Amino acid sequence: MVKTSAFTRHITSINDLSKREIELIFEIAQSYLKDQGDPTIHYRVGRSKRIASDYILASLFYEPSTRTRLSFESAMVRLGGAIITSADPATSSAAKGESLADSVRVVGNYADILIIRHPKDGAARLAAEYAPVPVINGGDGSHEHPTQTLCDMFTLKRKNKTLKNLKVAISGDLKGSRTIHSFVYALARFGAIIEPMPAKGMELPPHVDRRLKEEYHCKMIPGGETGDGAEAIDALYVTPDEPHQPSLFSGQEVDYGLIIQKKVDAVYVTRFQKERWTDKEQPYPRIDAKFLKEPKYSDASVMHPLPRVGELDASVDSDFRAVYFQQAAYGVPIRMALISLLLGLQKNNSLARFKGGFREPEHLVYDQPLNVGLRCINKNCIAHDTMEAQYVRNKFYLIKSNTDRSYRLRCFYCESDIDRFVVAHKKNRWFAEDTTLLRKATEQTIKDYVAFSTGEDAIETGFHSKRNDAVSPFSKKENLESV
Ligand code: NCD
Repeated sequence: MVKTSAFTRHITSINDLSKREIELIFEIAQSYLKDQGDPTIHYRVGRSKRIASDYILASLFYEPSTRTRLSFESAMVRLGGAIITSADPATSSAAKGESLADSVRVVGNYADILIIRHPKDGAARLAAEYAPVPVINGGDGSHEHPTQTLCDMFTLKRKNKTLKNLKVAISGDLKGSRTIHSFVYALARFGAIIEPMPAKGMELPPHVDRRLKEEYHCKMIPGGETGDGAEAIDALYVTPDEPHQPSLFSGQEVDYGLIIQKKVDAVYVTRFQKERWTDKEQPYPRIDAKFLKEPKYSDASVMHPLPRVGELDASVDSDFRAVYFQQAAYGVPIRMALISLLLGLQKNNSLARFKGGFREPEHLVYDQPLNVGLRCINKNCIAHDTMEAQYVRNKFYLIKSNTDRSYRLRCFYCESDIDRFVVAHKKNRWFAEDTTLLRKATEQTIKDYVAFSTGEDAIETGFHSKRNDAVSPFSKKENLESV
């Protein structure tokens, strides 16, 4: 049986998995397709085995789902395991006001692995903090959907052998689609070229865009090309620090011309995430046979996480480039691989387990109670859910900018960034607008700092501006250093 020890492993973001681990998942998914595949349909698992017969998977779904829940459950059954499901928040204790933090502590004792889908960004991360067994994010608000990305990348990998230098156009609601957010991180990490084709006003969120550039070293090639009004190709993200094809990159230098001319290898279509927007009627691009006639799409796989609701014409279904039903079918072997690795069912392979379920963070963690200092700026973050108020904290990673010396705060749950804030020092009672002061913080001293949205908030809480601080020689010295 799975031990409910402090050492476990959760997957709440695609970035919780290393590249090597993602490749391992692909290898194992491939072996399931080989050993248990349907001999007549190459992408379909058709037989079951009994390696998970001692285990139970629970799906806790607080939002509608067809593919994610059923393919996770199918995967568990194909491994010989059992499943328990709560698919409708109206019939679970959530309807009585039970918090997610309590639900996962309860269900974590009924099952050995939990799949969570929730409308709030960062909900899976909160669940992971409380669950005694592995938690897999099955989609949390518009934050991430890491296992969909595994299916997407596996689809690309099977078709193209390598992910490096693939040119992938992403179309539609790039802001609201959680599948897109996990997908672009993975594409960048594997050295693919990303061509955003957002619907108007639905560009990638600024924090995702910046993370691609600063953390995954994407370089931008400015576009200039525009589509037929609804979509505009504004730029390409490329990652030249990976060993790319010499034809596109010479050393670290990018051959912009060649990249722009390169044909598109895949068009990834997404639906308008109506449930995440207040304005429910907005112009939206439609991908159809006419769109795909453009020569640059002549070999492009057409992908979609599904469900589609009009943005991808059914006439494309019979086109040789359509791969979206395969992509959905891969949900089974991919999730079989992930479950079996997390439960330690593979003889020679497993995913590393970590204390607390996550790799040691690369950044310092700022952690204050909910009533102290600033709160996450994303109103849809689980940190604002009143039902969870006793279980969340004002918790942020402290991220040092690599373009200047400033710091920003990244929400521990939903990963949105706060760039502008003031830094206050609890013991010395000063506050300052200069976030570079945080460079002095260490694991031991970070608790002495409190961040506020504005100086007024800090003053209201009893802090005084560091600029007027002539009393403490320590603060004076710091002032000088920070100029
Ligand atoms: C996606 C989701 O839930 O984010 N569906 C899925 O899991 N395949 C995409 C969507 O709902 O648009």
